[in-house]
Amino acid sequence: MSISNITVIGSGTMGNGIAHVSAQHGYNVTLVDVDDAALQRGVGTITKNLDRQVKKETLTEEQKSEILSRIATSTDLATACKEADLVIEAASERLEIKQQIFKTVDAACKPGTILASNTSSISITTLAAGTSHPENFIGMHFFNPVPVMKLCEIIRGLATSDETYATIKELAEKLTKVPVEVQDYPGFISNRILMPMINEAVYCVMEGIASVEDIDTVMKLGMAHPMGPLTLADFIGLDVCLSIMEVLHNGLGDSKYRACPLLRKMVAAGHLGRKSGKGFYNY
Ligand SMILES: NC(=O)c1ccc[n+]([C@@H]2O[C@H](COP(=O)([O-])OP(=O)(O)OC[C@H]3O[C@@H](n4cnc5c(N)ncnc54)[C@H](O)[C@@H]3O)[C@@H](O)[C@H]2O)c1
Repeated sequence: MSISNITVIGSGTMGNGIAHVSAQHGYNVTLVDVDDAALQRGVGTITKNLDRQVKKETLTEEQKSEILSRIATSTDLATACKEADLVIEAASERLEIKQQIFKTVDAACKPGTILASNTSSISITTLAAGTSHPENFIGMHFFNPVPVMKLCEIIRGLATSDETYATIKELAEKLTKVPVEVQDYPGFISNRILMPMINEAVYCVMEGIASVEDIDTVMKLGMAHPMGPLTLADFIGLDVCLSIMEVLHNGLGDSKYRACPLLRKMVAAGHLGRKSGKGFYNY
């Protein structure tokens, strides 16, 4: 199936990045949000990031204008999906929100439209089961910041067809991402490995094994990680880390996925990392 029109739902951190790369590679994009101010912020971010590319001379002013002209915005989800060949959902990480969105999208889009979710932790199979064509449903897990990060985990739900997978793999490559095929199990690959590592770093803090700075230094200098796990946890948001640990624990049932009590305590205190001004570090 050939894709030219992409509707991106959610104009936050991930949605505006997905809209940016899609428009940059020639697709017509409609960016949808419930919040008009979020749409304006999203387009503002895309413009700022394109300006940076122009400054670095990786894009011309004309190309920037062309890219922006391929992005429309809307707060009317059903209308925005009518002509879509592909819908990529990047709305807030809540099951009820995503299920409601896909119900509307399923009823509004033309036959054969592929539906994708950028969820970090919700089951693709569960979301697909709420639509009339689960064979056309797939996970496209991009990474932040989307215009920079090369990986796209492509998650196959239980019913995802080979044709849907092949179309989305090809699309990811056209967006100059490196697609990786992953089966639908909690945390996929990225968070299944990353979050227990972060959680273990929090245990090291709780047990007083080393200071926050020293734990990060070990992983940066000893393992060549670009950023220590506690710095990364603050960047992701400690509430997000806790909720993904809970998804792993509930979904896989093993005590090795138990969230560290210190992580719970920090979230309870509102110390969520960068976004709250305080986490393992002060901002
Ligand atoms: N932030 C990351 O690093 C990251 C990485 C990979 C995947 N994800 C996933 O991407 C998704 C979006 O995350 P984000 O960080 O961009 O969130 P965000 O909070 O920055 O943006 C979410 C946007 O969705 C909008 N929204 C909420 N309900 C909506 C609805 N019913 N219809 C349309 N828009 C709606 C909100 O107004 C908001 O603008 C989540 O599923 C998250 O798990 C996030």
